[in-house]
Amino acid sequence: MKIAVSGASGKTGFRIAEEALKSNYTVSLITRKNSTIPSTLESCQINRLSGFNKEELDQALNAIDTLFIATGARPSIDLTGPAKIDACGVAQQVESCQRVGVKRIILVSSLCVGKLFHPLNLFGLILLWKKVGEQKLINSGIDWTIIRPGGLNETEDNLNKQSIKYTSSKRQEEGSIPRRLVAKSCIEALKTTSSIGNIIEITSNEENKRISMKEAIKGFNIVGN
Ligand SMILES: NC(=O)c1ccc[n+]([C@@H]2O[C@H](COP(=O)([O-])OP(=O)(O)OC[C@H]3O[C@@H](n4cnc5c(N)ncnc54)[C@H](OP(=O)(O)O)[C@@H]3O)[C@@H](O)[C@H]2O)c1
Repeated sequence: MKIAVSGASGKTGFRIAEEALKSNYTVSLITRKNSTIPSTLESCQINRLSGFNKEELDQALNAIDTLFIATGARPSIDLTGPAKIDACGVAQQVESCQRVGVKRIILVSSLCVGKLFHPLNLFGLILLWKKVGEQKLINSGIDWTIIRPGGLNETEDNLNKQSIKYTSSKRQEEGSIPRRLVAKSCIEALKTTSSIGNIIEITSNEENKRISMKEAIKGFNIVGN
């Protein structure tokens, strides 16, 4: 299976690519022209695009089976970032997948997407624009999974002590998770057919009961997006 990771220069994106390589997928990276890629990913095909340029995206996604979207606006004084990247950028990637026939998309989104009154919205109403991006994917006709992590961190130590709490939409509002575990969850979603058509919220700690994504999804009580 050939997969692509967009935002592969990002702190979650590069880990998704690394985890995909560990699972022996053929991995193609989608980045901006000047993005920095870690040396661990040198064996991958790298597609350096001018933003979300239509023709370049179509070319990069041609013959790809699954796209992982890990792009996201970086906090900055430009408050239009979330609209441009988390809404329009996701929409442009979804449309390209529709044009070239990518069968599956796994999107890294965020806990609390859609909430208006939330401190994260001080950065360009990011949680509302992420909702627009999610909705574009949900309505795309492509097999989708949305992973909504809590606050991301860079922890790489003792990850085997952490277990992940998986819930359906609107069940978790706080908590954190190492980016490495988000990346592993994205790959687990790819391998878990029942994740298709599901929004999956994830946080982790040492106290959670250990459970697979597949088992957790069986117990999902969906209350809406
Ligand atoms: N930070 C948190 O606590 C948190 C919590 C929950 C969810 N999230 C979400 O999780 C996702 C991953 O977060 P992260 O912190 O790991 O990401 P990150 O390190 O900030 O990486 C963002 C990626 O998006 C790319 N990007 C930014 N603007 C772009 C543009 N205009 N065109 C194309 N690519 C662009 C970046 O490319 P360059 O390397 O070229 O800049 C980079 O590859 C994001 O959607 C984020 O909003 C974050």
